[in-house]
Amino acid sequence: MAEDTFKKVIAHAKEYGFVFQSSEIYDGLSAVYDYGQNGSELKENIKRYWKDSMVKLHENIVGIDSAIFMHPTVWKASGHVGAFNDPLIDNKDSKKRYRADVLIEDHIAKIEAKINKDVEKAKKRFGDAFDEKQFRETNGRILERQNKINGINERFVKATSEGDLTEIKQIIIDESITCPVSGSKNWTDVRQFNLMFDTKLGSVSEDADKIYLRPETAQGIFVNYLNVQKTGRMKLPFGIAQIGKAFRNEIVARQFIFRMREFEQMEMQFFIRSGEEDKQFDYWKTLRMQWHKALGLGDENYRFHDHENLAHYAKAATDIEFNFPFGFKELEGIHSRTDFDLSQHQKFSGKKLQYFDPETNTSYVPYVIETSIGVDRMFLAVLSKAFEEETIKKDDGKTEIRTVLRFPPALAPVKAAILPLIKKDGLPEKAREVLNLLKYDFNCQYEEKDSIGKRYRRQDAIGTPFCITIDHQTLEDNTVTLRYRDTMAQDRVTIDDLPAIIDKEVNFKNLFEKLSV
Ligand code: GAP
Repeated sequence: MAEDTFKKVIAHAKEYGFVFQSSEIYDGLSAVYDYGQNGSELKENIKRYWKDSMVKLHENIVGIDSAIFMHPTVWKASGHVGAFNDPLIDNKDSKKRYRADVLIEDHIAKIEAKINKDVEKAKKRFGDAFDEKQFRETNGRILERQNKINGINERFVKATSEGDLTEIKQIIIDESITCPVSGSKNWTDVRQFNLMFDTKLGSVSEDADKIYLRPETAQGIFVNYLNVQKTGRMKLPFGIAQIGKAFRNEIVARQFIFRMREFEQMEMQFFIRSGEEDKQFDYWKTLRMQWHKALGLGDENYRFHDHENLAHYAKAATDIEFNFPFGFKELEGIHSRTDFDLSQHQKFSGKKLQYFDPETNTSYVPYVIETSIGVDRMFLAVLSKAFEEETIKKDDGKTEIRTVLRFPPALAPVKAAILPLIKKDGLPEKAREVLNLLKYDFNCQYEEKDSIGKRYRRQDAIGTPFCITIDHQTLEDNTVTLRYRDTMAQDRVTIDDLPAIIDKEVNFKNLFEKLSV
């Protein structure tokens, strides 16, 4: 069912100019996508929501825009050259390639699904008297399955932290994990695969130096820490925010724009005194969750997932997971990174990256809390929850399906559609007057083709919150019909009132006021 919805969302995204496969006329490029006329607007609005919530709402956060190409030593210092790897494994029969860790995680998810099924069954059987906690803690079959999960997790975490690829393969064999395509257990050994794309700098290839396309935007922030701190006269704590492209040669790029090879990140590094990291980590966890929930896509669709397998330098890490059509998956990461990154850059560059603290009269390398979210994943989250096929009753008593994108109004690509009822009698001219009144403040669309009903449906399908219809009465009394996307209700309002009515609904302030900043 959810898979069905996902397919519909993908088809809808293409049909209505949100997302196209890259280079489609050449049969596409795997895991690379283009954003169309409506998609690029939605994406811009998501970015604006994020950037303004960081930079406008916090007086101690500033934005930068660093280059995609960076000095190759940056990636040695950050650890990406040595350790930005995924363990990959091939099935010899299907010739399909998988991430070994994902095969194991999917296997665990299947066992979890069996547990949940048992719980659901028991819930139905026992009705109101059912105590889920007690059932999970005492039911023999559930305990057995939970022990199995714990055992696999323990082995997997140990093997990953020790980089023991033989043991990772052994888990796959011991658990009888089969290839989803061939159904066989005929696996190759597990190998490490570095996810960074490289290219050459310089026009003469013999002199060329290998450089990388950045796999994250964060390093552009770290290497500019001192530039920003000094030129902006920033005092701790302060943050640097950036939105930009990142590139990863993902082994398994599935699930539409969820895992792409070229994608966009919104990252913020918050520089703090050591000792304040736990308090700041909690602050950013709370604020980032508020930012998501303010959109009204359903509080039940978010959850935290704390990392058990922490990098050696990390003090804490959590993901905000979202209930995508294919289940709960990572949408954003929040990381307490100590002074690791700046210290590494200090070591590799030989330049001091310290902060002189006037309060304590000492110099030190600040600690960092990072928030990192993918624009494209956020786009998918918003689009998939906004999509609805609503059954509505027509005037003749029959039913029909209305496809509507219930975007949060501030994020909607088009805010208002201006529709003259017919193409004559001076109505188009009057409609263009309305367009001229609104177009400087709101992204509007003017449409005069087809019946008004068809035009309403087209606007519903791209998530336009308001349709404004200009008819003969408009010429007499300067009023229009205002139709609301979500309820399809219609009001008669004066043209002069339109800017305020629309602004009230689509203003980002509505979202920002829900954040405790
Ligand atoms: N600087 C930390 C960092 O890059 P990450 O967990 O690797 O952390 C952060 O990535 C976010 O970037 C993820 O939560 C996800 O939203 C997004 N992201 C990562 N890889 C992606 C990919 N291949 N396609 C789309 N989004 C991706």
